[in-house]
Amino acid sequence: MSTILITGTSRGLGYEFLRQYSATPENTVLGIVRNKAVTAEKIASDPELSNRTNIHLLEADLTNYAALKKASEDAAPITGGKLDILIANAAYLDGFDAYDAVGKLGADPDELTKYFRQLFEVNVIGNVHLFNIFLPLILAGHDKKVIAISTGFADPVFTNEWDIEPGALYASSKAAMNMLVAKYSAQYKKDGVLFLSICPGMVETSHYKNPTEEQKAQLGGLMQKFQQYAPRFSGPSTPEKSIASLRKTIADVSIEKGHGGDFISHLGGKRWL
Ligand SMILES: NC(=O)c1ccc[n+]([C@@H]2O[C@H](COP(=O)([O-])OP(=O)(O)OC[C@H]3O[C@@H](n4cnc5c(N)ncnc54)[C@H](OP(=O)(O)O)[C@@H]3O)[C@@H](O)[C@H]2O)c1
Repeated sequence: MSTILITGTSRGLGYEFLRQYSATPENTVLGIVRNKAVTAEKIASDPELSNRTNIHLLEADLTNYAALKKASEDAAPITGGKLDILIANAAYLDGFDAYDAVGKLGADPDELTKYFRQLFEVNVIGNVHLFNIFLPLILAGHDKKVIAISTGFADPVFTNEWDIEPGALYASSKAAMNMLVAKYSAQYKKDGVLFLSICPGMVETSHYKNPTEEQKAQLGGLMQKFQQYAPRFSGPSTPEKSIASLRKTIADVSIEKGHGGDFISHLGGKRWL
């Protein structure tokens, strides 16, 4: 029995986190979304979730500090002023750097600047405020786990070894978050709080929409590298499988096992696929 708060539960992996954690009736599961009415409607029309009374939605955009503060004030009475697990899952990614290498993105400097700023606003600064605001609840909780959902793209060793060109700006925002997770761990490990970055693997959540022929070829090249890196890789996983292994990993990790401040995959180590 745990109280779990997940950001970005409107769709994709966040919705699947909500679905799987709330399947245990003893869990109290809170989801932060940008539009509460829309996600409430989605849950109401989901035959599996509509009758679950252990799901609670809170509304906040990660770039809105006051809204995050209000969400924490709304969460406290639901959870008895504590939180066992906080999962920073929400992220901004709109595909600007999904295919092209960073040097090529420079052809549109204004868009590059706009996109990079927004990545940091949401994926880095937003999560710092999220952590600071919810830390009192985590410190009062039992499990005391703060998980940042990261990406293997943010691993410089993997990037260098396989010359992974795409996702440079997005991966940089996640790498910054990984470092912040290590810094939070340095500060709060002594209080028993586990901060950890975890990559969910490559999962089908509709990120590669309507690619051009050139983009299809770029994606094909990336998939070939992934297959060489992990011969058993046969394409993106499903949210169901990814979140099942993420939940197992989240349950297994601990400060005692040396996970504080680390950056690992859903498989529990440094294999990203
Ligand atoms: N899918 C993959 O293959 C993969 C691989 C590696 C890492 N990841 C990471 O896994 C996590 C989930 O990915 P996903 O594929 O499920 O992404 P997704 O389908 O694009 O969902 C992103 C979620 O973040 C929310 N969000 C975006 N901007 C926000 C903001 N400013 N404030 C609050 N919420 C915001 C979205 O809410 P709205 O519905 O309101 O836009 C949505 O719920 C992300 O951290 C991603 O980087 C995914």
